[in-house]
Amino acid sequence: PPPGMRREDVVRQDLGSLHGIPLYKCFVEGWPQVEAFQARPDDLLIATYPKSGTTWLSEILDMIYHDGDVEKCRRDAIFNRVPFLEMKAPEMQSGVELLEKTPSPRLVKTHLPVQLLPTSFQDKGCKVIYMARNPKDVVVSYYYFYHMAKIHPHPGTLSEFLETFMAGKVAYGSWYEHVRGWWEKKQEKQLLYLFYEDMKKDPRQEVQKILRFLGKEVAEGTVARILHHTSFQEMRKNPAANYETMPTTLMDHSLSPFLRKGISGDWKNHFTVAQNERFDQHYREHMAGSDLHFQMEV
Ligand code: PPS
Repeated sequence: PPPGMRREDVVRQDLGSLHGIPLYKCFVEGWPQVEAFQARPDDLLIATYPKSGTTWLSEILDMIYHDGDVEKCRRDAIFNRVPFLEMKAPEMQSGVELLEKTPSPRLVKTHLPVQLLPTSFQDKGCKVIYMARNPKDVVVSYYYFYHMAKIHPHPGTLSEFLETFMAGKVAYGSWYEHVRGWWEKKQEKQLLYLFYEDMKKDPRQEVQKILRFLGKEVAEGTVARILHHTSFQEMRKNPAANYETMPTTLMDHSLSPFLRKGISGDWKNHFTVAQNERFDQHYREHMAGSDLHFQMEV
């Protein structure tokens, strides 16, 4: 952000644009540092479209990296343990600055669409875990997040927000392009593509997948500890995982908690029949020809 900018200055601003992708103006300002980011070969990248289980996956990975030591995973807030690559806001350390100070092996969070990922990750051969979530639950989660995270413009009514989302005019742009873009990379053995719905259905199986992908072995008791500590109920009450330590100018948990519901299928409590039909039609058009499929509930 320009010098002299205050935290309040990012509140309810219109989105800017980064190579055609709608994004917070302060992140766009910080883009040159992100583009030039130097990855390290042992960095692990956690890539997601917003509201797809980033924080959940981050907590699981930090637990794996610390062999299931719950106390070590309380050492700092999740947004400091797993720095957010493209984050830039007034009066806060940028994601790149934080990453430069983070000892290896680092966990790195990004919401960037695949075509905007800094080239260094590929050059260094970094592993990537992508997590996708069905778009109906994403849009509902995003709607509440727009309310509580004041870096976003006002979302309007849910009906208005559905249109904005379908048009790809929310922060990070089109969900369809994001999930499809990363899916096209999934044949690369450095990328593990996961689904929020699978994680809900059988978290143990998904954690095992992650362990295999990382080439790590842990004791059965450790897996049990990881699953317990990263359950929605545990994370929701954990100040190091639930974002309650973010400045309230940026996130107001009284409007909606960051860990809001943590289920699959909450869209059913929000969509009208007509909205659902319209959304399904749009979904079919934009996912046509893809072998990428989503479970809208579990
Ligand atoms: S962000 O801001 O994009 O990084 O948000 P992200 O973490 O990707 O997504 C937030 C949603 O993930 C839910 N969540 C969980 N669900 C199940 N289990 C666990 N442990 C968990 N942790 C976070 C969180 O509640 C948000 O979804 P909604 O549907 O709004 O509850």
